[in-house]
Amino acid sequence: MATRIAAVFGATGQQGSSVVHALLKDGTFMPRAVTRDVNSKSARALAKLGAEVVSADLGGDKEAVKKAVTGAEVVFLVTIPFKAALPEDVQGINVIDARKDPEVPRGIWCRLRVPRYRLFFENILTPFPGLPFEKSDDGYVWNTYAQPGSDTAVHTWASRDLGPAVVALFTQYTTRSSEIVGQTFVLASARTSFEGFTAELSKGLGKPVYHKHGGIAGVLPVDEMIYSVAEFPWYAGVAIPDPRLEKLGVKTGTIEEFGRTVLKSHLGE
Ligand SMILES: NC(=O)c1ccc[n+]([C@@H]2O[C@H](COP(=O)([O-])OP(=O)(O)OC[C@H]3O[C@@H](n4cnc5c(N)ncnc54)[C@H](OP(=O)(O)O)[C@@H]3O)[C@@H](O)[C@H]2O)c1
Repeated sequence: MATRIAAVFGATGQQGSSVVHALLKDGTFMPRAVTRDVNSKSARALAKLGAEVVSADLGGDKEAVKKAVTGAEVVFLVTIPFKAALPEDVQGINVIDARKDPEVPRGIWCRLRVPRYRLFFENILTPFPGLPFEKSDDGYVWNTYAQPGSDTAVHTWASRDLGPAVVALFTQYTTRSSEIVGQTFVLASARTSFEGFTAELSKGLGKPVYHKHGGIAGVLPVDEMIYSVAEFPWYAGVAIPDPRLEKLGVKTGTIEEFGRTVLKSHLGE
């Protein structure tokens, strides 16, 4: 059994669970899945697969957060933007502060934080409120908060790609440290407009998919994120897919593949 520990926050969520599954598959690290409720169905499912499952609320439980990272060599951190009692930056600071505590063994410590400025393919499967992915006369309409023809955004297939990417970084950060430590990577499959996205989706699905503006979120961080697309390119200067990740063995899925596999089966096509 692996004795190197990887603490994973948000472990029952779509990003965190992708990481826990990939760590279990790889076997180098024992995943320590952090959840607010160790008895929830999804937490128990992770334990059944072989993960260590511990309790902590990133949004307010500083002592438990410290305990969750104690003994961990690497940490995957995803902060909770809207529902938590503490702001996201405080959540992150609490995890980083835990490292400074003399009770927490220092060792080598690698942490990953997932930035917000990306859109997940999975938003089509579990749409934001009021934004259905719905049937049209000859295909489907994808309602989003973006204006038609708005500038390009960065799109990530989180559940497929996040886990393997994190494993690639965690397992190679000592042997290829100059390529990994201190770097910011952009995990994404495509930089494209929403119309470009739907064109690729159509190829995979075998039916036309149209993009339609479905209104604004009315939630400041989401609106700010969407409108920023039109003002400045996200991760300017970084090629997508990120060639530095590709060099480390990370091969991201495509929009066409998502349409042909996950979306097709989700829609019962
Ligand atoms: N959708 C996108 O396009 C996109 C893109 C980039 C980033 N993000 C951001 O990334 C964040 C996490 O991503 P995700 O997709 O993995 O989220 P998710 O599926 O909603 O999972 C988040 C996990 O965090 C845990 N959590 C801990 N404290 C929480 C709290 N106070 N309130 C609610 N949940 C809490 C929950 O696990 P337990 O219940 O087990 O504690 C939950 O499973 C999202 O909040 C989102 O804003 C989203």
